[in-house]
Amino acid sequence: MTNDIERILITEEQIYKRVRELACDINDYYGGKPIVAVFVLKGSAFFASDLIRWLNMDVTMEFMSVSSYGMESVSSGKLTIKRDIDTDIMGKHVLIIEDIIDTGITLSTLERLFRQRGAADIKVVTMLSKPSRRIVPFAADFTGFEVPDEFVVGYGLDYADKYRNLPYIASLKRHIYENNGEE
Ligand code: IMP
Ligand code: MG
Repeated sequence: MTNDIERILITEEQIYKRVRELACDINDYYGGKPIVAVFVLKGSAFFASDLIRWLNMDVTMEFMSVSSYGMESVSSGKLTIKRDIDTDIMGKHVLIIEDIIDTGITLSTLERLFRQRGAADIKVVTMLSKPSRRIVPFAADFTGFEVPDEFVVGYGLDYADKYRNLPYIASLKRHIYENNGEE
């Protein structure tokens, strides 16, 4: 698995430190108000669980699973809800937790959905952002790191459902995703 890695972009130590900084900013913003934390699965699973353990308000965990990608590394531009949250968010403070914002399609669609459902407030925290790739203008309220336009994996991020368990964030050798994994 590690033979497929081009280089490590963000180390475990850098992730740990940045997650705590983000948690401080988020604690300051909410000032103790209870929130619903929406984990956008599967990619944000590690980031979201590391992040929320440093939050100091009451946090309800909700899981959502959407796909805009299929097995491809290029966005299909459509969003399918594969698993929805199972709570009513009317009047609630919702924090959407995402792994990476690429084209912006996923987050702009999710934000609109939660607004339609009557959330009192919606904020987005993303571990990573690739600003150069936006199709839909979208800025998260809290961003861990900006990354260049390279396909990245690890710390929850996958390519074809692999590499999620790497403890760091790394770029993948180009031939892996350009040939769909075939040598
Ligand atoms: P968006 O809708 O294009 O912003 O896509 C967001 C989703 O695409 C993320 O939640 C990831 O699942 C996936 N994605 C985008 N770029 C990468 C990447 O470099 N590595 C792994 N997944 C990615
Ligand atoms: Mg994702």
